[in-house]
Amino acid sequence: MSTPIVEQSREGQVLVLTIHNPPVNAFSVGVPEGLHAGLDVAEKDDAVKAVVIMGGGRTFIAGADIKTFDLPRAEAPDLRGFISRLDAFPKPTVAAIHGTALGGGFEVALACNYRVAVPDAKVGLPEVKLGVLPGAGGTQRLPRLVGAEKALDMMLSGNPVKAPAAQKLGLIDEIVDGDLKAGAVKFAAAHADARPLPRVSERKVEGASPELLMAARQNIKKTHRGQLSPTYIIDLVEIASSKAFADGWAAEARLFMMAKDSPQSRGLRHIFFAERESGKVRGVTKDTPTSNIEKVGVIGAGTMGGGIAMNFLNVGIPVTIVETAQEALDRGVATIRKNYENTAKKGRMTAEDVEKRMALLTPSLEMQSLADADLIIEAVFENMDVKKEIFTRLDGLAKAGAILASNTSTLDVNEIAAVTGRPESVIGLHFFSPANVMKLLEIVRADKTSPETLATSLQVAKKIGKVGVVVGVCEGFVGNRMVHKYGEEARQLVEAGAKPEDVDAAMNALGLPMGPFQMTDMAGLDIGHAIRVHQAKVRGLPEPDGWLDRIVKTGRKGQKTGGGIYDYGEDRRPQPNAEMQKIIEDYRAEKGITPRSLSADEITKRLAYTLVNEGAQILDEGIAQRSGDIDTIYIYGYGFPAYLGGPMQYASEQGLGNVVADLESYGLTPAPLLKRLAAEGKTFAQWDKEQAGT
Ligand code: 3HC
Repeated sequence: MSTPIVEQSREGQVLVLTIHNPPVNAFSVGVPEGLHAGLDVAEKDDAVKAVVIMGGGRTFIAGADIKTFDLPRAEAPDLRGFISRLDAFPKPTVAAIHGTALGGGFEVALACNYRVAVPDAKVGLPEVKLGVLPGAGGTQRLPRLVGAEKALDMMLSGNPVKAPAAQKLGLIDEIVDGDLKAGAVKFAAAHADARPLPRVSERKVEGASPELLMAARQNIKKTHRGQLSPTYIIDLVEIASSKAFADGWAAEARLFMMAKDSPQSRGLRHIFFAERESGKVRGVTKDTPTSNIEKVGVIGAGTMGGGIAMNFLNVGIPVTIVETAQEALDRGVATIRKNYENTAKKGRMTAEDVEKRMALLTPSLEMQSLADADLIIEAVFENMDVKKEIFTRLDGLAKAGAILASNTSTLDVNEIAAVTGRPESVIGLHFFSPANVMKLLEIVRADKTSPETLATSLQVAKKIGKVGVVVGVCEGFVGNRMVHKYGEEARQLVEAGAKPEDVDAAMNALGLPMGPFQMTDMAGLDIGHAIRVHQAKVRGLPEPDGWLDRIVKTGRKGQKTGGGIYDYGEDRRPQPNAEMQKIIEDYRAEKGITPRSLSADEITKRLAYTLVNEGAQILDEGIAQRSGDIDTIYIYGYGFPAYLGGPMQYASEQGLGNVVADLESYGLTPAPLLKRLAAEGKTFAQWDKEQAGT
């Protein structure tokens, strides 16, 4: 007989209810039914003196089932109904926590009379990360238990607290070392006769001063710019401190529904699943063999190479870093050390940690020293001939089965692989700068890359804490290919009459921390110029001479030369520069362009939809497997606001029909896939599902 979703077992006078809803015991349909059945038994049977609720498998309840958020209310699992009953239950209830008690899971625990946990358990209310708020009493119970300040901190950050710290805060009554079930049963039996039963809902909130609430409201303007649910959370803590529990409970339900039905929450939930799905790659199954990566080689000790090396040192994997000249090697190693020392100065690492990591680093001037590496990542400058030479040498010296990766951001990985006798082991691993910080890793699958190489690379990404997204070979892969079109369109907008600062302001208002020209100034104007020169050469076109190319030629290359499109004062904020404006005006005059005024709405749509249009083309060509992958790339690599769900989800929210109509009204040509989906009234997420056959 199969195990029921909620298993009942009697341990003396204690009834233990164990939830079996793998993988994370989310509060799905079937869970409340099983728990109610357990409480029915406990209520009727006089021999049952207390109830323990716990999770089977790897965790306690990790939250409401996010997949059921869009179900009609009657079909959705009734978490609030169960929690109301639990709070009023006449016999002692104990939550026995291991793994993670998050969101609705922790709310179940908060509605129990007691909570016990194993030492490595974590508890928290991460709903804000999904654009919602704790909607099953969390906003009302947490401040009653830990005070307003700590509750705000936990609910606004969404970060979990480890059991020992949670015990200090009063969230956990006892830490159980050893067998959790036995410890919880013992605890429950010892409290079987406790009356009156402690109920969090009956406590008062401490510390909700007007100053605290005002400071929290100010602070979220910086930490959660433009987001709804943090505001609601603060409102609800205020209500918890000033009104009866029942009033707060009702207000919470109302605000939860408003948050849940907002595009922001849809965007954040989309990206929650998209990020997890990006690891599921066509041609790679659970059975695809992977190899162990125990030694890594990095070629190039520049900014990129150094940053890449740090990822591995951070997780205890030894790295040999190779350069051609002693000076460059020393400089690279010194930079890595300095980065670690700076982290130590900020108190986020000890001096001992710094030494431990540096001890794992072997500097070398000999490529031969990479002979025993399991993974070799080339991170030299973008020049095909140089890369081909390196890969030819690597083919001759790397051990059999080693993965040979290029960190190229634009070049053809097939061409690089072709110089080796083992193209199945060649892959692109495109890190984003700063490589030790940015979470995105574009994993470039070349035509002959084997499933094993791909599966191992996905595993490596996870191991070093990156979100790995598999992409196909084309110029710029996914992220840079889209950003090039976006940059081109931004330059066109200025040509047509917009000021660079207007273009950036429109994108800042959409939620991007940097607009296209702020980004150009940061990356260096010379980089984009060099790419344009290269592309023109490849296509047999004359040397590019747009307004931005003319700015580069003045020697202003961006922030690194003290200014580019903008000037930068002490505060490093961009300030328009009159001479640069003059270059733009002269350019327009020379080309006979009469400048017109462009609205922020037109700027935003033209830029965002240019990304979407190229994204649709990329999907059609199979360069990305799903639109969710593109969204993940844009959020983790390019600062697109997560609450918009990424450019493709944003477009779906606007309605693809509207996107097509807007593009056409600006004289831009919608990609065939975009037009098709718009005509069929579909979203990109629906297209993803159709492609996956689900
Ligand atoms: N609902 C539905 N599915 C969930 C889920 C949830 N709450 N949490 C995780 N999953 C799924 C994931 O999608 C993934 O599915 P897949 O295997 O098909 O890709 C699987 O469970 C395993 O998840 P992870 O890959 O993330 O596993 P990890 O071990 O790395 O992490 C975790 C486990 C820490 C629990 C992490 O999954 C997590 O943070 N989950 C979200 C927790 C959360 O946000 N809870 C609050 C929900 S909102 C809520 O409760 C509202 C309430 O207040 C009313």
